[in-house]
Amino acid sequence: MTLDDIDFAQLYRQHLSQSQRQPKAPADWDRRAPRMGRKSLGGPYADTFVERMQLAGSRSVLDVGCGPGTIALLLAPHMHRVVGLDYSPGMLEQLMVNARRLGLSNVTPLECAWEDDWSEVPVCDIAVASRSGMVPDLAEALIKLNAHARHKVYMTQLVGGHFMDPELIVALGRQPRSFPDHLYTLGLLHTQGIHAELSYIEMPSRLAGASDFDEFAQRVSWSLGELDDEERARLHHWYSTDSERAARGGAPMRWALVSWTPPSPS
Ligand SMILES: C[S@@+](CC[C@H](N)C(=O)[O-])C[C@H]1O[C@@H](n2cnc3c(N)ncnc32)[C@H](O)[C@@H]1O
Repeated sequence: MTLDDIDFAQLYRQHLSQSQRQPKAPADWDRRAPRMGRKSLGGPYADTFVERMQLAGSRSVLDVGCGPGTIALLLAPHMHRVVGLDYSPGMLEQLMVNARRLGLSNVTPLECAWEDDWSEVPVCDIAVASRSGMVPDLAEALIKLNAHARHKVYMTQLVGGHFMDPELIVALGRQPRSFPDHLYTLGLLHTQGIHAELSYIEMPSRLAGASDFDEFAQRVSWSLGELDDEERARLHHWYSTDSERAARGGAPMRWALVSWTPPSPS
């Protein structure tokens, strides 16, 4: 068997199904939107993402799963047009609140899902998918990104597929199951003769800096689903035995930034 014999699309779907990911609906993201929208724009993740992009010669951006505009709004001052695509109306509302606050008039919200028909989605010079690529069908998502970008595609995915420290998950008595990560993207692109570029962005854990145990437990439940009493007690033990580790939220997160030139339409 060689690399060429691997069906990365199928392997990705298999891995995602084994990960037992709690599916998220637009309403789940709507509930998070006001808090995410209030965060100030920029910061180490977004600034690094944008610094690594090649913007020269590009005038338009499609940001898929744009959220409150984390990347889209940093790019807007350099672009003629920015389209923020998201399936959460709450996120799109935050995108536009932030755009108005910044005096940006070139940002358009587009309520649409990865899984929808994209025939009405505009083709832009650059397509971005920042931390929004956990899709049921990765091969299909890459086809859509390639068809909607003229110059470049930029995508970040979690390295190793763990949103939180696997040791913490073990401490809860659960089996840590990874989500599929950027290696499937690299594999799928490789089979199409696309040689992607890869770099990493390291960030503190999403559990870092919780103000108290309740907030910490809430953040854990966002990824792992409801915790039963026993698990909550175990989490409390993990949280209270090492305050420095609790403040860090365990191991940091690493994002893989994969970028490539889409094939020209035939
Ligand atoms: C983790 S947030 C990332 C937001 C922003 N791109 C960032 O990097 O901060 C994921 C975003 O993807 C959106 N999203 C999740 N699944 C989606 C889907 N199937 N179709 C469209 N948007 C989706 C969510 O509503 C949310 O805004």
